[in-house]
Amino acid sequence: MVIDRLSHGADAIGLVTRRRPGGHRCNDDRALQVCTATATVWRRGCASARQTAHVATDPPFNPISPFVSFDEVYRGTPPWEIGRPQPALLELFEAGQVSGRVLDVGCGTGELALTAASRGLQATGVDSSVEAIAIARQRAVDRGLAGARFEVADAMDLSVLDTIFDTVMDSGVFHLFDDADRARYVESVGRVTAIGGLYHMLVFSDAAPGHWGPRRIRRNDIETALADGWDLRSVEPCIFEVNIVDGRVKAWRATAVRSG
Ligand SMILES: C[S@@+](CC[C@H](N)C(=O)[O-])C[C@H]1O[C@@H](n2cnc3c(N)ncnc32)[C@H](O)[C@@H]1O
Repeated sequence: MVIDRLSHGADAIGLVTRRRPGGHRCNDDRALQVCTATATVWRRGCASARQTAHVATDPPFNPISPFVSFDEVYRGTPPWEIGRPQPALLELFEAGQVSGRVLDVGCGTGELALTAASRGLQATGVDSSVEAIAIARQRAVDRGLAGARFEVADAMDLSVLDTIFDTVMDSGVFHLFDDADRARYVESVGRVTAIGGLYHMLVFSDAAPGHWGPRRIRRNDIETALADGWDLRSVEPCIFEVNIVDGRVKAWRATAVRSG
């Protein structure tokens, strides 16, 4: 099932280059802006996201290039691509917190889903980026994990997968959305999570300095988003690894149980 249009969600990423006060551009000093433009229709590879997306930048930052889509970012190496699952989520496998049918929502290049598949779990990864899903599928083939399922799909409409999952994993997706889209996203996750199933998320926390990258999430944002239909089991400080800045961003790892 391949979709070619998304009606909600995280629209675009702007790669920005820092300008020194005198206007001199420093190409080494790359930072990431992830932004959302609520209710913007984002066609794969379409320029509309670039035209409609907007970000709040720190004064020293000037967007040099126009915003680019996730697809374009996956043609290079995205800042969150660390070649393995986020360690904070990998720990959950060791702790027995990942079981049954596993959904990696916004899976990117699929490392989490592939880890689940390599452990004999029934793994599905979905992402809105065609490029990301192509990479994930190739990695599955390369690693002999052809049982892992990867689909281009909108996180806002997960019921199209027609599957109920025991574990849903979210590595850096919840923090892409604004308040309204976040509520719709959690509702979508809820529709495909079995009662008693687990939803794990890893997001940038409000303790992370700066304004580059995705939204900073407060503990209260997570509590609010998961107030209905979920029992929030834990919200713990941890690290989100990236391949820019100093590589380590303060984050929250949260786990909720689907209650109904
Ligand atoms: C910060 S990246 C994280 C990727 C991956 N989970 C990881 O940890 O490497 C966020 C991902 O969410 C995907 N995404 C953004 N909006 C989406 C949507 N509405 N539906 C599905 N995926 C979406 C992007 O394409 C991107 O791969």
